Amino acid sequence: MADIDVLQQLEQTQQKGLNSLAGIASEEALLAWRTQYLGKNTAITQAFQSLGKLPAELRPQVGQTANKVKVALEAVLAEKTAALKETSLAHALATETLDITLPGRPLVQGRLHPDTQMLRELYRVFGEMGFQVYRSREVETDEFNFQLLNFPIGHPARDMQDTYFVEAGERGTNPIVMRTHTSPGQIHAMREFSATNPQNPPSVRLILPGMCYRYEQTDARHETQFDQIEGLAVGPGITFSNLKATLSDLARRLFGQQVRTRFRASFFPFTEPSAEFDVECFLCGGKGCPVCGGGWLEIGGCGMVHPNVLRNGGYDPERYTGFAFGLGPQRIAMLRYGINDIRYFWENDMRFLEQF
Ligand code: DAH
Repeated sequence: MADIDVLQQLEQTQQKGLNSLAGIASEEALLAWRTQYLGKNTAITQAFQSLGKLPAELRPQVGQTANKVKVALEAVLAEKTAALKETSLAHALATETLDITLPGRPLVQGRLHPDTQMLRELYRVFGEMGFQVYRSREVETDEFNFQLLNFPIGHPARDMQDTYFVEAGERGTNPIVMRTHTSPGQIHAMREFSATNPQNPPSVRLILPGMCYRYEQTDARHETQFDQIEGLAVGPGITFSNLKATLSDLARRLFGQQVRTRFRASFFPFTEPSAEFDVECFLCGGKGCPVCGGGWLEIGGCGMVHPNVLRNGGYDPERYTGFAFGLGPQRIAMLRYGINDIRYFWENDMRFLEQF
């Protein structure tokens, strides 16, 4: 009798389990259902536990039935679990919509350093005038930085440039220096171009930008490192008029058509004649103000390339002439933006940099 009960109970359990599962709609209810029908204290486990006490001929039937009920209930449990997951996902997608009206977090956008911005503008302007950019090294020898540019050893013109000599062993009269100006690039460039056709070197029209270093007492106008843009045009029949036209045109392109310019006689060892190039102060219109003093702003030096320098570059001064200039892009940036201290450029102070 008892054995028939066990079988009946098992069948009832399966039936009840299947029936009650249909109404379940939450994961908690499903957990409770699982404890009730497949947990430790159910008709199924009781059947398994009672197997040992049953007469041997009944054991297979009870065991198989218990197993069948267990497998059937586990199968519907798995199905229901999957179905519930799907319903809850669909619910979440339907109700938890993305609020696209919320303002996004602002992106922090980087930008170019004001000096780089100025340099790029100058590349563009010179590019329009047919100049190509030539990159030259920042570490030089005395020979290139001075001697080949007509500053012999011991020449007083060297005092115009305070110099970082680098300790590099015993190099006699040719020590290593951090370049004090971009002018040594003139020699590198001319040698490179003249080597391509030594009998008939090509004409060149170049700008040579880059960092220069001087052993300076720093103040609002002097820094130990600064940018220069060297210019060099060499070819047959180049004249001082070409130089004046080029720099005057540069000023107009940078500061506007109305701007006035002037050239003042000066001295540089590597140019003859030499001049200083001034632009009318665009802040005060030439009247004189705290930035410019007398109404004019000095932008750089220039002149006709000295015959010795042409020769050192592999160009025959009997057949070729050329002009050169050296500009201070940071100076131009200072004028344009009203920056009153050159040291701001490399101080890395965000309050300064963020203004550009
Ligand atoms: N190298 C000079 C300096 O740093 C600037 C300069 C002047 C460059 C005249 C030139 C030039 O090419 O012709 O002081």
